[in-house]
Amino acid sequence: MPAIAVIGAQWGDEGKGKMVDLLAEKARVVIRFSGGDNAGHTVINHLGKFALHLVPSGIFYPHTTCIISNGVVLNPVSLFKEMDDLKAKGITDFSRMFISERTHLIMPYHLLLEQLEEKALGARAIGTTGKGIGPAFTDKAARYGIRAGDLLNPGYFKERLSQVLELKNSVITRAYGAEPLSVEKIFNQYMEYAKRLTPHIKNTLPVVEEALRKGEPVMLEGAQGTLLDPDFGTYPYVTSSSPMGIVGAGIGPTQIKRAYGVFKAYCTRVGNGPMPTDLKDATGDKLREIAQEFGATTGRARRCGWFDGVAARYSSQVNGFNGAIITRLDILDSFPVINVCTAYHVDGKTIDYFPADISVLERCVPVYETFPGWQTPINSIREFARLPLNARRYVKRLEELCGCPAKIISVGAAREQTIFRGEIY
Ligand code: GDP
Ligand code: IMO
Ligand code: MG
Repeated sequence: MPAIAVIGAQWGDEGKGKMVDLLAEKARVVIRFSGGDNAGHTVINHLGKFALHLVPSGIFYPHTTCIISNGVVLNPVSLFKEMDDLKAKGITDFSRMFISERTHLIMPYHLLLEQLEEKALGARAIGTTGKGIGPAFTDKAARYGIRAGDLLNPGYFKERLSQVLELKNSVITRAYGAEPLSVEKIFNQYMEYAKRLTPHIKNTLPVVEEALRKGEPVMLEGAQGTLLDPDFGTYPYVTSSSPMGIVGAGIGPTQIKRAYGVFKAYCTRVGNGPMPTDLKDATGDKLREIAQEFGATTGRARRCGWFDGVAARYSSQVNGFNGAIITRLDILDSFPVINVCTAYHVDGKTIDYFPADISVLERCVPVYETFPGWQTPINSIREFARLPLNARRYVKRLEELCGCPAKIISVGAAREQTIFRGEIY
């Protein structure tokens, strides 16, 4: 059985964590393949409520091997904190969690440089999560990165760190007038981290290869969302790794059997950058209030707006989704009318595509189709046919806009609050 991918289809926080935790029951391997601890994946199950940042959301099943793969950038401090939190809630077996030796490490200078860069950008700041993600991926591409596997070879690690830090310190001191960082201090710090990381660091490719060869289910856990992709997102207001990419998982395109796009039944965005359906009014406040739209990583209020069908079609197209997972449909329960954006008005024209130029996107005014709400709670419904007619009509329209069938509809944060429509694997 080949792999399936669960990919964020909007601006992140679509509910990937819930879905991966739910679907991982049948998975042999779950792979986090991009991003870093900028991700915040909420999981609510019989063991409690969790906000996972790096640990794959398959960790709750003893039979599931979890991989933090080469496409991720890893901050050891964040990982340890997360492991400790999980341990305190009864998840104690991390012997089945592996970190690829090729995974790049987030270093103290990444965190510092990001702060300095965001400050220097002033009003044009990206509004990052402040986790050093951009600088770490920059170093990977610039070939200054330090990888998890380097920790296993202290001599090489120190030599590499000294070289890289010389460059970094020259930027830190000359460009920003800040204090330089010490090689010795970072070296000692990371050698301490290495003691706890070493049992998890390995060549993870054979683990995945074996599962695929035996026909066991492998699931790719997306982080962030397509509209934050550096190629396809609202550049430069994007993250620094591809939320869609499979290169980061260490498997080939022929191994992916199905790719599911996770779409919220409306839109949210945290951080700066255009979002055409952003509601800067009482309806947006109502959505945020009902949905408790506050970031799982930074606690920031998320901007809220109606479902953007133009962005959804684009996201489906660039990902080639076979199916959609519609989450948080229950959040719309109390709305008498629900709008869906099906086109944009811009510069006197009506367009149905997602512009690459963000100055155009910023001027886009949504063209809405209006749907009557269902105005009744749906969180205990488990069959599509039992949803109120207006809810089914709404989902049907989202399917048309996404260009793929809604295979799962989520009506609450708990595992069981889910409506399945056919086989997923
Ligand atoms: P992720 O980053 O994509 O994993 O999403 P987040 O965890 O950041 O945000 C999604 C939020 O929605 C979390 O608080 C989830 O517990 C919650 N959630 C997921 N699915 C549903 C749903 O169908 N209904 C409701 N009410 N909440 C949901
Ligand atoms: P999950 O996996 C929502 C956003 C940040 C910022 C931009 C760049 O929970 O869906 P970064 O720190 O990555 O350099 O910030 O991307 N961002 C997210 N927004 N959900 C996420 O992850 C995000 N990860 C990054 O807010 O706008
Ligand atoms: Mg999140």
